[in-house]
Amino acid sequence: MNINYIYNMKSFEKTESSNISDNFAYSMTMFFRFIADTFFAQRYGHRAVVLETVAGVPGMVAGMWMHFKSLRSMKTGYGSHIREMLAEAENERMHLMFFIEIAKPNIFERALVMFAQMIFGAFYFFMYVFFTKTAHRMIGFFEDEAVKSYSDYLTLIEEGKIENVKAPRIAIEYYNLPDDARLVDLVKCVKADEEHHSEINHKYADEEIG
Ligand SMILES: [Fe+2]
Ligand SMILES: [Fe+2]
Repeated sequence: MNINYIYNMKSFEKTESSNISDNFAYSMTMFFRFIADTFFAQRYGHRAVVLETVAGVPGMVAGMWMHFKSLRSMKTGYGSHIREMLAEAENERMHLMFFIEIAKPNIFERALVMFAQMIFGAFYFFMYVFFTKTAHRMIGFFEDEAVKSYSDYLTLIEEGKIENVKAPRIAIEYYNLPDDARLVDLVKCVKADEEHHSEINHKYADEEIG
């Protein structure tokens, strides 16, 4: 599948070159999107907190698996990809740290996070080991959805429907934002990170890296 095609369209459409792997990755994305929409609707702060706890999983799994692969095959050439994947995991963990300052999860959401980590962690590990390309494609699509959600969040803040509170200190330091930065500035930075994750994961799927 042509990466530029998907990436520019920001949505998946069946093309002659789309295959079972891409279709499966997209179906899983729509399935998880439906669950997220059902649970959170427009509660974007809570949505961000819960989904960022899940978003931190794939990069760590991919980075760890590439690391093991490099060790057992005794080959070089994995370094830049391992670092990219671990950086993605770290970046997603930081997103969580920002949004936990914006929205406090309730007890039910905390339970959901624990459940999701077990189920999604095991599922993604299995997928990554046996269907690496599909795994990267699915995360590429997840990231496209994250970009859409953060765009919607941004619109609601700009329209004054969500209060444009002060950005948390931890985010100001992480992104080197001015001291008077607001939520709107933070969400723009996070959205740019998600665009980068999308680009990388679609690229890894296209080039069968992992
Ligand atoms: Fe994120
Ligand atoms: Fe992401």
